Amino acid sequence: MTNRVFSGAQPSGNMHLGNYLGAFRNWVRLQDSYECIYCVVDMHAITVWQDPAALKDQVREAAAAYLASGVDPKKSILFNQSRVPGHAELAWIFNCVARIGWLNRMTQFKDKAGKNRENASTGLFVYPNLMAADILLYKATHVPVGEDQKQHLELTRDIAQKFNNDYGIELFPLTEPIIQAEGARIMSLRDGTKKMSKSDPSEFSRINLNDDADTLAQKIRKAKTDAELLPPKADMLEGRPEAQNLVGIYAALTDMSRDAVCAQYEGKGFGDFKKALTEVVVTNLAPITEEMARLQKDPAYIDSLLKEGGEKAQALSAPILADVKKAVGF
Ligand code: ADP
Ligand code: NA
Repeated sequence: MTNRVFSGAQPSGNMHLGNYLGAFRNWVRLQDSYECIYCVVDMHAITVWQDPAALKDQVREAAAAYLASGVDPKKSILFNQSRVPGHAELAWIFNCVARIGWLNRMTQFKDKAGKNRENASTGLFVYPNLMAADILLYKATHVPVGEDQKQHLELTRDIAQKFNNDYGIELFPLTEPIIQAEGARIMSLRDGTKKMSKSDPSEFSRINLNDDADTLAQKIRKAKTDAELLPPKADMLEGRPEAQNLVGIYAALTDMSRDAVCAQYEGKGFGDFKKALTEVVVTNLAPITEEMARLQKDPAYIDSLLKEGGEKAQALSAPILADVKKAVGF
């Protein structure tokens, strides 16, 4: 079987450093060893309200972030989900395969729906079935994911297995996660126990990929920390989640180990460390920010790339969806 990767991010605005370190940067590295499909998942985005007048631009912003991070449309398929109707068709079939009990166990739904569960969209509840459809519509064998998506990928395997069993056909692979060591979980700058997220209402919680150098410096200066010094080893940061997070971001961006970062700044306070971190963040993000801005000035170009990618995705998925429909009896 071809080693094929599928991954995506939601076009809900505010593409951030967690998306870059937990996803995009990793995607770029996979392009030479896998057949890669990178999707802007606009159908996932509308599980919570999106302003229709803004959504197309948010799709372009996400595509620009992929491209600026190094996703190469000559090597990988890049498109937005709603162009390929097979995602919705397969998701419906999976709605009929997955069990309510399985979805009830998904922690992300509990987090996102919050206390007002009765008022969450049914789409938000069955979101993991659509994610399984995204992956299995192409028989993807591998999915690079941040820690936050591990549980959803396990559900994808459960759905593949149950479909194969119920219909007596070895149609879907059991997709494997690819989780890289550094950057798998970047936390909020305001609260080291919450992940950095597009949907966090606090602008200072998040490093956006389109922040300029001054904004980056200000956000890092204001990031929550403690008054203690940097220890010689990373395991001595236990119980200091904000400090751990900043050291982790430095390590991820420089490809150093957390231990090496601690060793370099041992005995320094966070005033000094934040200055060094700002330099590392600005140096790494500036070319991405610039390239995103350049691309976003030409929406017609981005749209043409997405259209081309959508046609490739359609062609790749059509025979797989035909086999699924045949197995189901359609
Ligand atoms: P968000 O949670 O910000 O809405 P998405 O759900 O669109 O982001 O996720 C897109 C990709 O970015 C996924 O692979 C996800 O695992 C990764 N990701 C999102 N937030 C983080 C984070 N804080 N740290 C590491 N990876 C992240
Ligand atoms: Na997410």
